[in-house]
Amino acid sequence: MNIIIADTYEEMSRKAADVIADCLAGDPSCVLGLATGSTPIGLYAELVRDCEAGKISFADATTFNLDEYRGLDPQHDQSYRYFMQQNLFDHVDVDVARTHVPDGSNPDADAACAAYEEAIAREGGVDLQLLGLGHNGHIGFNEPCECFPVDTHVVELTESTIQANSRLFDSIDEVPREAYTMGIGTIMRAAKVLVVANGEGKAQIVRDAFFGPVTPQVPASVLQLHPDVTVIVDKEAGALIG
Ligand code: F6R
Repeated sequence: MNIIIADTYEEMSRKAADVIADCLAGDPSCVLGLATGSTPIGLYAELVRDCEAGKISFADATTFNLDEYRGLDPQHDQSYRYFMQQNLFDHVDVDVARTHVPDGSNPDADAACAAYEEAIAREGGVDLQLLGLGHNGHIGFNEPCECFPVDTHVVELTESTIQANSRLFDSIDEVPREAYTMGIGTIMRAAKVLVVANGEGKAQIVRDAFFGPVTPQVPASVLQLHPDVTVIVDKEAGALIG
């Protein structure tokens, strides 16, 4: 595991963007696994700048996002599809037909999950998977539990997540109760994994996930068993491992 502690969020974002840029340079038709959340916003902005400057191109790349709310239309401004369009896809030369986010509007959950795994397999698997880190060690929507879920599946959101998300919706009744997420197996099958985390609120989980025991109670700890992981954190998130 390669752990890099950057001085600032900006430096973390630049270094993480470089890992993705190198992947695109090495294989322009690579398959990228992508994440939403606040952490990668800076690195997506760096990739947009690189693309505008002609340093990188997504023209031949394929992308698969980690997760999506179930029951939310892709056009909804809280959907992860919408987030990706706003923060990356609308500003780079990617072919939108080759960008994949689990289909939150498909009422047939089993079909949506199976189709997602099949689509990843058809592309030959993910070459580089980007991950953010939840405060409790979740990756994607894989929350602490008794065993590692393997494939793309449906998760029920906890009451506290629903409450927290309700500020982003007109009413709590509109907040999705479930989400689709790649499984831990889906993530572990990626050839390379890149984890980003910033801020002092992530310091303890960075230590627990990458220096503590491997346990499904800390889902990200499974990455210690992956052969090619790069973790890039800012000074604050790296405060307990420096
Ligand atoms: C997002 C995702 C989540 C986030 C995690 C950290 O697609 O899968 O696991 O990566 O919740 O979120 P932020 O970056 O907002 O701290």
